[in-house]
Amino acid sequence: MRRIALLGATGSIGRQALEVIGANDGLELVAATSGSTPIDGLAPLTQVGGDPSELLERAEPDVVLNATVGFAGLAGTMWALERGVSLALANKESLVAAGELALAARRRGGGELVPVDSEHSALFQCAQLGDPESLVLTASGGPFRGLRRDDLADVTAEQALAHPTWNMGAKITVDSATLANKGLEVIEAHFLFGVDYDRIEVVVHPTSIVHGVVRFQDGAAIAHLGYPDMRVPISYALTYPARAATPIPSLDLTAGPLEFHEPDVETFRMLALAREAGVRGGTYPCAFNSANEVAVSAFLAGRIGFLDIAALVEDVLARVDGTAARDLDELRQADGRARELLGAAWA
Ligand SMILES: NC(=O)c1ccc[n+]([C@@H]2O[C@H](COP(=O)([O-])OP(=O)(O)OC[C@H]3O[C@@H](n4cnc5c(N)ncnc54)[C@H](OP(=O)(O)O)[C@@H]3O)[C@@H](O)[C@H]2O)c1
Repeated sequence: MRRIALLGATGSIGRQALEVIGANDGLELVAATSGSTPIDGLAPLTQVGGDPSELLERAEPDVVLNATVGFAGLAGTMWALERGVSLALANKESLVAAGELALAARRRGGGELVPVDSEHSALFQCAQLGDPESLVLTASGGPFRGLRRDDLADVTAEQALAHPTWNMGAKITVDSATLANKGLEVIEAHFLFGVDYDRIEVVVHPTSIVHGVVRFQDGAAIAHLGYPDMRVPISYALTYPARAATPIPSLDLTAGPLEFHEPDVETFRMLALAREAGVRGGTYPCAFNSANEVAVSAFLAGRIGFLDIAALVEDVLARVDGTAARDLDELRQADGRARELLGAAWA
């Protein structure tokens, strides 16, 4: 029996994880958290808001599934990495922001880090076949694929939330519409797989059937295919290295052609900004993430326009110093500074 602690149990990933855990006799939910939604009785140990570290100490999980949204997921990620408890990571923001600090904690703890993001789960599985020469992340392109800057000035939160292939929480859905999500994923892939940014490619693939491709030095490119359903990578991360049955059917290969296009980084600036932040290193990825979180909240609240998200994040990245954080306190300061700068810019 594998003991699972589920952080962010009330969200899109959290609810699908509860379904996966409920359907697998080998998985036991021992603890659950949420941000503010009441979850009494959902698990033997529950907590609403705050740092989950004490709860996790008491729960003694074998696997922490971190499905919290945003920088708030940092404490859970670091707890698992430091203690060598297997981390099933959906909360990409914590790895993007903490970067080297998270990798150092993982080296100290020595536990598994299995990505839940479908693209990274795909790359993780393909990369077991050899040392990757380069990585390809696929992007659906979101609801605004094919549109130009002029078309995007007046799009609403409601339009941004209508994702064509994935049904997800609000923040990541907006991130998919701006391509910030793919930018965060480029940085996430860099830290997960130790591959330089110039060997991490993004292609737009509208149907989200190919989740990721790993290229090897002999010219082989190994791809991972399947219907877009997060229960597959959630199940894999919870049962790794074993695989369990899921209700998702195997792919019908005759269903249609697979299309791939170059992303339009002139229109969707967030992908280029994330890559630049990743290459600059230090706390630039943290600042990119923090500024994006504030900008997305402001967009969802109707306070700023869609194109303002990238403009404001670019402005913050030009004003932070980006010095590497030596510890989590310095990282939290960098996060706070980026939030303040962005808040001041649109207030
Ligand atoms: N959804 C997907 O298909 C998908 C795919 C790949 C990766 N991811 C990643 O998975 C993570 C979760 O995404 P999601 O779509 O499931 O988000 P979501 O639906 O918005 O759910 C977020 C979860 O985090 C909790 N939470 C929010 N603020 C918190 C705080 N300050 N402290 C503790 N918990 C807090 C929420 O609790 P309340 O209900 O109380 O607010 C909820 O349980 C994100 O990092 C996202 O990028 C998601």
